[in-house]
Amino acid sequence: MKKIGIIGCGQMGGGIAQLCAQNGFPTLVNEVSQEFLNKGLDRIKANLSKNVEKGKLTKEAMEKTMSNLKGTAKLEDFRDVDIAIEAVIENFDEKKRVFSTLDKICPAGAILATNTSSISIMDIASTTKRPDKVIGMHFFNPVPIMNLVEIVLGLQTSNETYTAIKELSASLGKAIVTTKDRPGFIVNYLLIPYLLDAIRTLESGTATKEDIDTAMKNGCNMPMGPLTLSDFIGNDTVLYIANVLYEGFKETKYVAPPLLKQMVTAGLLGKKTGKGFYGY
Ligand SMILES: NC(=O)c1ccc[n+]([C@@H]2O[C@H](COP(=O)([O-])OP(=O)(O)OC[C@H]3O[C@@H](n4cnc5c(N)ncnc54)[C@H](O)[C@@H]3O)[C@@H](O)[C@H]2O)c1
Repeated sequence: MKKIGIIGCGQMGGGIAQLCAQNGFPTLVNEVSQEFLNKGLDRIKANLSKNVEKGKLTKEAMEKTMSNLKGTAKLEDFRDVDIAIEAVIENFDEKKRVFSTLDKICPAGAILATNTSSISIMDIASTTKRPDKVIGMHFFNPVPIMNLVEIVLGLQTSNETYTAIKELSASLGKAIVTTKDRPGFIVNYLLIPYLLDAIRTLESGTATKEDIDTAMKNGCNMPMGPLTLSDFIGNDTVLYIANVLYEGFKETKYVAPPLLKQMVTAGLLGKKTGKGFYGY
């Protein structure tokens, strides 16, 4: 079994760590501090416990998952991982710091994958001396439930790296799509303009947030409304991706509405901070 290292134990990193450990991989997850790490690991434990209560998971499977999962606040502990999957905040400078450190620490043959929603794989790969081993492995939220991995190929990603990540994604039980390294890849290129338009609809006073969400849920059979979805993704992440898309294409449909910027400045990031368009 390959040893997997996950960097970041927030919404996505925690979900990826849970998924890998649940599928039998020795998994090591890293956070910025012991405090953040404990919070992340507690969240994973609470998720698994909920699944046990609902009868979706046996107690033994939960114990096995937790025994596959270790945490560390020191990235130096990644010296023996086969694959590192980065899931820190959506910020290029932060990812750059993480990748240049991983490049120095991880074994020469290790693959360095990123769960970025919008940052160029080429830009991330260029911060390492192994661009052939850098690849996008884009999971969806919540990771244990959402069935897709978007595999993103940088210009220099090797076939060997691609094959290994395809095999890993399949062994994690996910459907796979492959995309070139273009802003937004497939899903966010289509999704983000829709979310921005929903926020503009609210901002214009056309309808209440509840009616916008109810309209799309019931009129288009969406599992949740766009404003709820933005809260679930994280309004800061939505803003960051919108800015990347605007930078990439210079089209007005990607311009972030002032309301979104204000909400991010105010810390109304959505579910993860307890308050966004709705309270949680
Ligand atoms: N939220 C989504 O729906 C979603 C979906 C797909 C992909 N993504 C991508 O996943 C990544 C993480 O997003 P998230 O929603 O989990 O964010 P989050 O804010 O919930 O979690 C990010 C975590 O990374 C940690 N972190 C920051 N810098 C770090 C560092 N240098 N080393 C270790 N840990 C560090 C933070 O403490 C935090 O716990 C982003 O790149 C985002 O674009 C998000």
